[in-house]
Amino acid sequence: ALFQSIERVRESALAELLGAASLTETEALRIKYLGRQGTVTELLKGLKDVDPATRPEVGKRVNALKGVLEVRLAEVTAKFRASEQAQAISRERVDAALPGRRIPRGHPHPIRMVMDEVIDCFAALGFSVFEGPEIETDYYNFEALNVPADHPARDMQDTFYTTDGRLLRTHTSPVQIHVMERLQPPVAMIAPGAVYRRDSFDASHSPMFHQVEGLMVDRGITFAHMKGILSLFWKKLFGEQCRVLLRPSYFPFTEPSAEVAIGCVVCRGKGCRICKQSGWLEVMGCGMVHPNVFRAVRYDDKVFSGFAFGMGIERIAMLKFGIQDIRLFFENDVRFLEQFR
Ligand code: PHE
Repeated sequence: ALFQSIERVRESALAELLGAASLTETEALRIKYLGRQGTVTELLKGLKDVDPATRPEVGKRVNALKGVLEVRLAEVTAKFRASEQAQAISRERVDAALPGRRIPRGHPHPIRMVMDEVIDCFAALGFSVFEGPEIETDYYNFEALNVPADHPARDMQDTFYTTDGRLLRTHTSPVQIHVMERLQPPVAMIAPGAVYRRDSFDASHSPMFHQVEGLMVDRGITFAHMKGILSLFWKKLFGEQCRVLLRPSYFPFTEPSAEVAIGCVVCRGKGCRICKQSGWLEVMGCGMVHPNVFRAVRYDDKVFSGFAFGMGIERIAMLKFGIQDIRLFFENDVRFLEQFR
């Protein structure tokens, strides 16, 4: 009976091993038969209770069974290991002849492109570039620039104020003040950067946009120097044939003040929707630095004179690229941006 049951264990073990479909199943069978409480192990443990007469023969057969199972288990395990490795090799195969994946190359935003072009123009003329904080005090944004206390720009309706009594600069002109506080004339500087106004967000307005400010101060600087440099600049930006016009205007921080208009780049002066049939496009504010501004930074206005100017970059970019809606610059739809590479 004992010999028969050893024989049955052998048959079932070999049959199950033949049916094993994976490494895990094979391992389960090893535990079932040869593990610490496995069937074959239990048979070996039971040897001590077997009749001493048959014990040597029973022992021999159980050990033989154990040996056979160990060999078969090793074979089956090796078979599964090999096929698993073959699969891994084909899965992880590297085709060295495959073309590389292209990483899309980025490019500057159209606003940055125009800003850089403006900066390069003035840098070539000897202007230095300065940046100032976007969160300003009333003093730098208004007071030192001779903006009166009752000026509408100071209204909550027009300016973003912070809860701690500061504000988001409404123009880049405060950078002039920071620079003049630190440097003595001669000064030739530009200040590019973002500015903020409580405007609607529509085709021509945005609560955040970009300006480039400029300032030149020295002995004997006149309105003619301003006109010469600004004409040169606009011709560089829109071509030698670009016409430049100065018209009287008003800013609290310049006297006299002017606005610069260029011949309409869309209709070449004939009159169209963009220039509102006037043939001219207003592109810049400028003027001779007001004596009160010089006094605020302790420059002697009897000795020094200068001019300042400021322009909106989005507007220039819209004219340069023929864009009708300022919001396109801020929505950053890649289908729009990709056209500027
Ligand atoms: N700061 C003015 C504005 O934002 C522009 C300007 C700058 C005008 C310098 C004159 C001189 O409209």
